[in-house]
Amino acid sequence: MGQRSQWGTRAGFIMAAVGSAVGLGNIWRFPYVAYENGGGAFFIPYLFALLTAGIPILILEFTIGHKYRGSAPLSFFRMKGKGAEWLGWWGIFVSFVISTYYAVIIAWAMKYTIYSFNLAWGDDTGGFLFGSVLNLADNPGEFGGLVPGVLIPLLLVWAIAFIILLAGVKRGIELANRIFIPLLVVVFLLVVIRAVTLDGALLGLDAFFKPDLSKLADSTVWVMAYGHIFFSLSIAFAIMITYSSYLPKKSDITNNAFITGFANSGFELLAGIGVFAALGFMATQAGESVADVASAGVGLAFVVFPQIINEMPGMNGLFGALFFLSLVLAGLTSLISICETYIAGVSEKFNISRTKSVLFGVGLAAVISLLFATRGGLYFLDVADYFINQFGVAAIGLVEVVLIVWVFKKLDVFGEHANEISDIKVGLWWKICLRFITPLVLGYMMFDLLRINLFKLHKDGEGNVIGNYEGYPDAFIMSSGWMVALFAIVMAIIFTVLNWN
Ligand code: PHE
Ligand code: NA
Repeated sequence: MGQRSQWGTRAGFIMAAVGSAVGLGNIWRFPYVAYENGGGAFFIPYLFALLTAGIPILILEFTIGHKYRGSAPLSFFRMKGKGAEWLGWWGIFVSFVISTYYAVIIAWAMKYTIYSFNLAWGDDTGGFLFGSVLNLADNPGEFGGLVPGVLIPLLLVWAIAFIILLAGVKRGIELANRIFIPLLVVVFLLVVIRAVTLDGALLGLDAFFKPDLSKLADSTVWVMAYGHIFFSLSIAFAIMITYSSYLPKKSDITNNAFITGFANSGFELLAGIGVFAALGFMATQAGESVADVASAGVGLAFVVFPQIINEMPGMNGLFGALFFLSLVLAGLTSLISICETYIAGVSEKFNISRTKSVLFGVGLAAVISLLFATRGGLYFLDVADYFINQFGVAAIGLVEVVLIVWVFKKLDVFGEHANEISDIKVGLWWKICLRFITPLVLGYMMFDLLRINLFKLHKDGEGNVIGNYEGYPDAFIMSSGWMVALFAIVMAIIFTVLNWN
């Protein structure tokens, strides 16, 4: 292979890392996760998770990528042979699965950007989403054929990803992020400013920030905070290792990690403010409470927001278009980062060109993503997302930290490496977090998740036990949840066994 790719500038790397971190998770996931887990009080576990796990692991992953200068599998292989390599592939296959459905959500957001201009969703925004747009099948597990209205924007999303990724690290990924991220900041600021100046905005902000301190005693709130930080910072997906492997030798690691972490959280906070201000407006219009209009998951962005847009005074089409455009921009930069993990891994392992790796890897992801553009797609997406995040991302985080710290005993070496080139030095704080706090919290989290899922202890909003996640049938949970999570590990082992070319 020729010369290894590098970022052109320091800002280029930060833009790309922030571009990966700031994604759909910031705009629609964070607001409702925070709201449901104590509102203002959620910031305590959130900050705790950010400072004890998020940023320490980000520093760790930046160090690994910078030191070993390889994709995740190659970096781990250089660290400790095949006994570590599989961890890189595990992250890559989890990333692969995520990329197949993440692209579909971006496709919906693209459609909604266009719909905004003439408020095409009408009054029944829920009926519009599940009926006209998704043509949702009656039962989970049913395929029901492709939905052309989703297929077309989906192909467009993949076409954009192909073009950017084929252009390479510097002229593709870096350039795209240098354009998309500043644009996203401007567009999203406009959305937030408009939202907080709406009638009733304060009511929403009050609901968002009002602390429910009793929630702090609930361990699931802490688990949710850790889970969210992992997802939101794109750690334990192989992404940040891959991106930092393109850093020039002389790069400040800890500084970059703090900037990335705080930029991501700042964006999240902004999104929470914007979304809840808009919800406050809607509650005021409807004469209801914010709790009644708030909604989780796809409902928030694609059902409730269109309603809010319907009721806004003046230029509401533009407001809607800007909101959905922010989702598209935030999503695209994250999608690119997640695809880069397998592009880099496959190209290094099999010694094939970047172009071939893009065509093969991203091509395969695009084909598999068609599954989520079928009439049953939303159900598959929901379950795959849940399982792959819990038993992929969070589990990898745990195994990664335990192996590096306790089995390979590399923490001191990595700390020295980071300190040699960084202004902010890592020391006792960093080591205590990674040695003790993170393994303990994540270990408990995994235990709890296994307990809830194996013994079918999921609850509904009222606290009644409903069995499987979302009350889905066993066969569906098995085929689309456990099998998908297992697939990532099995593929990781197969790829590790193969020889390096
Ligand atoms: N950090 C992203 C977010 O907050 C998560 C993500 C990154 C998901 C990359 C997929 C790909 O949305
Ligand atoms: Na994020």
